[in-house]
Order: sequence, then structure tokens, then C-alpha cells
Amino acid sequence: MSESRRIEVNLGPRSYPVVIGAGLLGEFGAMLRAEGLRQTGAFLITDPNVAGHYFEKVRASLDAAGFAKIVRHDITAGEAGKNWDEFTKTCAAMLGAFPDAATAPLVLLLGGGVVGDLGGFAAAVFRRGVPFVQIPTTLLAAVDSSVGGKVAVNFGGVKNIMGAFSQPRMVVCDLDALRTLGQREVRSGMAEVIKYGAVCSRSLFEQLEAGALEKMLALDPAALTDIVAQCMRLKADVVEQDELDRLGIRNVLNFGHTIGHALELSADYALTHGEAISVGMVAATRMAVKFGVVGEDFQKRLIALLGRAGLPLTHPDAPGLYDRILRALQLDKKFRDGKNLFVLPAGIGTWAPRENVDWELVHDCVRAVLAG
Ligand SMILES: NC(=O)c1ccc[n+]([C@@H]2O[C@H](COP(=O)([O-])OP(=O)(O)OC[C@H]3O[C@@H](n4cnc5c(N)ncnc54)[C@H](O)[C@@H]3O)[C@@H](O)[C@H]2O)c1
Ligand SMILES: [Zn+2]
Repeated sequence: MSESRRIEVNLGPRSYPVVIGAGLLGEFGAMLRAEGLRQTGAFLITDPNVAGHYFEKVRASLDAAGFAKIVRHDITAGEAGKNWDEFTKTCAAMLGAFPDAATAPLVLLLGGGVVGDLGGFAAAVFRRGVPFVQIPTTLLAAVDSSVGGKVAVNFGGVKNIMGAFSQPRMVVCDLDALRTLGQREVRSGMAEVIKYGAVCSRSLFEQLEAGALEKMLALDPAALTDIVAQCMRLKADVVEQDELDRLGIRNVLNFGHTIGHALELSADYALTHGEAISVGMVAATRMAVKFGVVGEDFQKRLIALLGRAGLPLTHPDAPGLYDRILRALQLDKKFRDGKNLFVLPAGIGTWAPRENVDWELVHDCVRAVLAG
């Protein structure tokens, strides 16, 4: 068994540890106690796919650690469940189970990015905020969404438009839990891993090129521990500098997400988040090449990595899709005061923001990734 790694996210009074390793769910309750979390009630939010595999293990470890009341609440699995209706149902279940202010629960988020984002938002607003712990069970959540404190649900046809900043007390990533993921979900998580390499870390990008990518797809334990820890450290570094996304530093994490989010929403979630941002990274890279911000060599290498990960480079066109994407782009929260903002790669491991990109070029980049 590979040893576990611990990463500190340093945010002053909101600092927290991220623990990554194999076999952690069995010791989860004890780990909470070791971090000083003393609650006796737990409200665990999950989805039916994840619960079937891991709830019992987590419940037993909580029980052993002295949790007297453990209430499980399932949301609908997948992006379709990340909505206001599921959010209010979750709040109602939490209030129903823990009506007394004196015994506010510890909220546990066992699942992928959907459970983490929706459940984190519910914890952020319940009684103006109760502590929560992220237990990511997808590669995407392990390398990205479980750290950083952005919690949200989709609303009114706009992704993540209702949300908050609220940091977890701890993140526990049991790499064994990734073993029940389908290949599609593993590939989807690889899109975020490739994103970190492309705009944050040349050494990670080159490590993936040199074969770590295939090891990740095969869930090789040593590669998983190493690369998940690298991604978490890269994310923590960005979040530590710009926790509330006000300085522009955190924008780097949105590489591929501008057009990617619009596509994800417009295609009615026919694509996973990772698939959509893979296409979005191809589109943003085309833009960067057109601006001369990055060379065609970068473009080739990025496309090669995405291809090796089995990720899409284009999305099949459909009637009305192009117009829906353009509309979704304009509704995106990154488009303020009529200005747009694109995160462009500027060489391997570096990036540059570009504001007010001519709409004609945006249109061209969207068209280019919609395959005939
Ligand atoms: N908050 C952030 O900073 C941030 C960052 C990136 C992405 N996100 C969000 O994350 C979401 C995508 O997350 P995701 O890709 O994890 O999707 P997800 O949570 O929908 O999980 C994908 C599917 O895998 C299943 N699943 C989860 N864990 C499993 C396991 N261990 N074994 C078997 N099946 C399992 C789920 O039930 C679901 O059907 C998007 O909504 C995106 O906006 C948020
Ligand atoms: Zn993402």
C-alpha cells in the first residue's frame, strides 16, 4: 500500500489539511477526531452510486469514533442533480434531522464534484455555516473540486450561479474509492490533471507526456498518490494567493472552462465536466495560437495528451447548439459589463488572461470545436 500524503491549505484561520492515501475511509472517524472535530452528529450527503459502495464503511468508522447520530441524505447522481430543488431538499433534510441549534451536525460530503459543490453550499448557508468535510470519490473531485471552497448549484440555466465561498475543515481522499469509477469518469478527471500541467506546471505536463498519463488511467497506486498530491498542492497554491477570486490569480483554474462550461450546459449534460473542458481547452488554445500567445508546438502537445487520455477534442454539432453556446457564454459569470475574459495558455505551465476578445474570434473558436 502506498503511504498517505498530507497537504496543508494555508488560509489563516480557515486553514485545513488534505490527506491523500489508500484505505483512508476505514479510519475516517478517527481522522476527524485527530483533527479536533468533536461533533456527535453527522449529516452525510452522498448519491446512490457512491453510497452503495462506501457508505457502510464510512458509517462504521464514524460509529467507532463515537458519532451518536449519523443521518444519510442522497441527492440525484450526476450534474442533473446539481440544482436548486435538490439543494432545498437537502436543507430541509438537514433541518429535519438537526432542528436544535445546540447540536449542529458535522456535514460530510461523500462523492464527486456534484455532491461536494451542492452539499458544501448547503453547509455554507445552514445556520450561516456549519463545518463540513470533503470526501472526494471521483478523480475530478480529488484533484480539483474538493479543495478551494467554491460551492454552488446551477440555477436558471447558468452553471454554478448560486453559491458561496466556504472552506472545508478537512479533505480526506481515499484513492481506493476511485477503483469503482467507470473509465469515462477517470478520463474526465484527467482533463483537470492535464489542465494543471498545461497552465500551472511544466514538470507535471512533461511527466504526463512521459507515461504518467497511462499510469493514471490504469489507477496505478504510486502514480495516483504522486499526481493527485501534485494537483492538490498546485490548487492550494492558487487558492492561498486568491481565496475569494478577486485578484485574477485564481482565473488560471478556468483554462478551458469558459467555452467548456457553455458547452457543458448547452449540450444538456451529454458531456461530463471533464469532457466539456477538454473541448474548451482546445478552443482556448486555438485562440491563444491566433493571438500568437503560444506556438503550434504547445497546441500539438496538448492535443496529443488529451487524445491519449481518450478525451474529446470536438463535440458533434446539433441544430441550435452553436447559438445556445453563445447565449450561455454571455450569461457566464466571467462575462461582466459586456467584457469577456479568456484564460490562455502562454507556454507549457504558464498562462495569460485576455479580456475583451473580439466576438468574431470567440465565434470562430466555438465553431472550430463543433464537428460537422
Ligand atoms: N468547486 C470547484 O472548485 C469545482 C472544480 C471543478 C469541478 N467542479 C464541479 O464538479 C462537478 C463534476 O464533478 P464529478 O466529475 O466528480 O461529477 P459527479 O459528482 O457527477 O460524479 C460523476 C459520476 O460518478 C459517480 N461516482 C462518484 N464517485 C464514484 C465512485 N467512487 N465509484 C463509482 N461511481 C462514482 C457519481 O454518482 C456520478 O454519477 C461539476 O458540477 C463541476 O462544476 C467544481
Ligand atoms: Zn473544472
